[in-house]
Amino acid sequence: MIKPTISVEPVISSEELAQLRKTNIALEGRNYELRETVRQLRLQSAAVESERDQYKREAKKLKGELEQYRTPPLVIGTIEALASGDRVIVRSTTGPQFLSKVSETVNSAELVPGRQCALHPQSFVLVEVLPNKYDTMISGMEVERAPEVNYEDIGGLDRQKILLREAVELPLLKPELFEKVGIEPPKGVLLVGPPGTGKTLLAKAVSHETNAAFIRVVGSELVQKYIGEGARLVRELFALAREKAPAIIFIDEIDAIGSSRSNEAYSAGDHEVNRTLMQLLSELDGFNTRGNVKIIAATNRMDILDQALLRPGRFDRIIEFPLPDEEGRRMILAIHTKKMHLNRTVSLEKIAKETENMNGSELMAICVEAGMNAVRAGRTKISGEDFVQAITAVKQGRNAKLTPIPDGMYS
Ligand SMILES: Nc1ncnc2c1ncn2[C@@H]1O[C@H](COP(=O)(O)OP(=O)(O)OP(=O)(O)O)[C@@H](O)[C@H]1O
Ligand SMILES: [Mg+2]
Repeated sequence: MIKPTISVEPVISSEELAQLRKTNIALEGRNYELRETVRQLRLQSAAVESERDQYKREAKKLKGELEQYRTPPLVIGTIEALASGDRVIVRSTTGPQFLSKVSETVNSAELVPGRQCALHPQSFVLVEVLPNKYDTMISGMEVERAPEVNYEDIGGLDRQKILLREAVELPLLKPELFEKVGIEPPKGVLLVGPPGTGKTLLAKAVSHETNAAFIRVVGSELVQKYIGEGARLVRELFALAREKAPAIIFIDEIDAIGSSRSNEAYSAGDHEVNRTLMQLLSELDGFNTRGNVKIIAATNRMDILDQALLRPGRFDRIIEFPLPDEEGRRMILAIHTKKMHLNRTVSLEKIAKETENMNGSELMAICVEAGMNAVRAGRTKISGEDFVQAITAVKQGRNAKLTPIPDGMYS
């Protein structure tokens, strides 16, 4: 059998074919390279884009911050009353009263007289009602971390401790006892006595040992620059106490607002102090139900206090803090030397005998001074001689304070 054969002449020569194959391989390589470049560029572009976004955000933030620096601060005020329409009467803390429009963003339920608010500095539009119900000054007065003073840290004053607890803690803890007997428990307690006899110290101990909320204020803090501000603070002080009840309000150095009102002509400043005092009197009277709130006040100038403060129903318990007697002095010395290393020769009894008429803070000063004497001499134990020197030093310091100023010194 004969097979027919067809001979085909190749169109391209084998060299040409080899050439084409080579070109093809080169093109494929190039293609691959280009694809790779595209991929790289895409990646780069994504990175650049995200960087751009980041810069945009940063620019926006900086712009916002710049805007904040440009806007003037808002004026703080207190809402006094609601007027007709969307207007309120506001007293700004700088003094004057305004009839202000209320911004639409403010929730009208929050417009309550007595609340603090923020006013736009130019138009005095009320733009915000502040979240804190009370003046920041008042809310800062609540003692959250009571000072570490226990009743044991107070030397002597046993009777004063009992009287104070009876008048303050008992009515708060066992009100039913007073109900059964049918009497009103004492409202306010006044601690009086010479300086440095432990009045503030005992109040600190009460705040430490009681479970009631303790609100502490110094009389001078209630003396304010603008008319009516002091009275407002007193009102808020009692409002806060009622809210936190059972609560104890401690007014230290009450003579700053409670000194007697005289008929002599007095300055506008005196008027403002009097207004504050009158508000205090009215709060003490409990025109607003007082709830479970007790008041302790302290002063070393009972002689200048207004008689109205002292009448029954207000500060009806007066607890006197006398200068410590010999036994009292020994106990105070024992408390203040508790952590000191004393020589066996030191006799607290003897020191107590030699410190007639000295108060608690002077006795503490003697202990510190005696310790300093030992430190100066490079000792860690304190000797009787250190105490003798300390007593002389403290006595001298006291006399120096009492020497009258020589004539002509200030002329
Ligand atoms: N009975 C005491 N026991 C222990 N330390 C006392 C006693 N009395 C006073 N001191 C010391 O004296 C310091 C001053 O006392 P405190 O502040 O209570 O005086 P005060 O009666 O409030 O005086 P002022 O009327 O001047 O305010 C206290 O920090 C305490 O170290
Ligand atoms: Mg005091």
